[in-house]
Amino acid sequence: MEVIIQPNQEAAADLVARVVARDLRANPHLVLGLATGRTMERVYRRLVMKHREQKLDFSLCSTFNLDEYVGLFPTDPNSYRHYMDHHLFQHVNIDPRNTHLPNGMAENLDKECDAYEKAIHRFGGIDLQLLGIGKAGHIGFNEPLSALRSRTRVKALTPVTLAQNAAFFGGAENMPRRAITMGVGTILESRRCILLATGEEKADIVARAIEGPLTGMVSATALQLHTHCTVVVDEAAAAKLKEVEYYRWIFENEPEWQQFQSE
Ligand code: F6R
Repeated sequence: MEVIIQPNQEAAADLVARVVARDLRANPHLVLGLATGRTMERVYRRLVMKHREQKLDFSLCSTFNLDEYVGLFPTDPNSYRHYMDHHLFQHVNIDPRNTHLPNGMAENLDKECDAYEKAIHRFGGIDLQLLGIGKAGHIGFNEPLSALRSRTRVKALTPVTLAQNAAFFGGAENMPRRAITMGVGTILESRRCILLATGEEKADIVARAIEGPLTGMVSATALQLHTHCTVVVDEAAAAKLKEVEYYRWIFENEPEWQQFQSE
């Protein structure tokens, strides 16, 4: 795992968007794993700008989102399909047939989860997985005590998650209670993953995820097992980390990051 600290949330989102753009230019057939949430909106805004201003080409890439609420139609403004259309897909030249989210309205949810895993496999696996982190440490909707080897399945959302997203639904009582989510094991199979966390409200959980012991109580700690995982944080989200000097040194000295310092 490597940790990169950027001065603020804009710079952190900018770095993540630049990594995605670099990988997409290097491999137009890139299979991208995508996350939703407030943090990612800034990344998608930048990718849309890069498409418009630098002709970043999405025509051959494919995407798989981490999760979708159970019981919401794709047209529901709170569905993650709607989020993705609104923040990214409608504004770039991606082929909608290459964009994938679990179907939260599927008649047989277990079959849907199985089919989702198979589709990821058929596309050759995920090259670059984007991740956010919930206040209780979830990645995707892998709530506390998710098995570290779990696959795509239905999970009940915890009260912390309901509180985190209740505002979108006009109150937690209107929120779906369950979601389909890629498993921790599914996420760990991505070739590379980047977790983006910004803001002081994420500082505690970021410190537990990066510097704390591996535990099913904080799904994001499983990323310590990933062979190529980068965590990008702003100063506010980095506030509770102990080894910041070391992380800054890595960013300044690892060859991969040199090109991102000079741009
Ligand atoms: C959503 C997802 C979640 C979010 C996390 C952070 O697809 O996978 O794990 O990334 O809840 O959400 P924000 O960015 O709204 O704090």
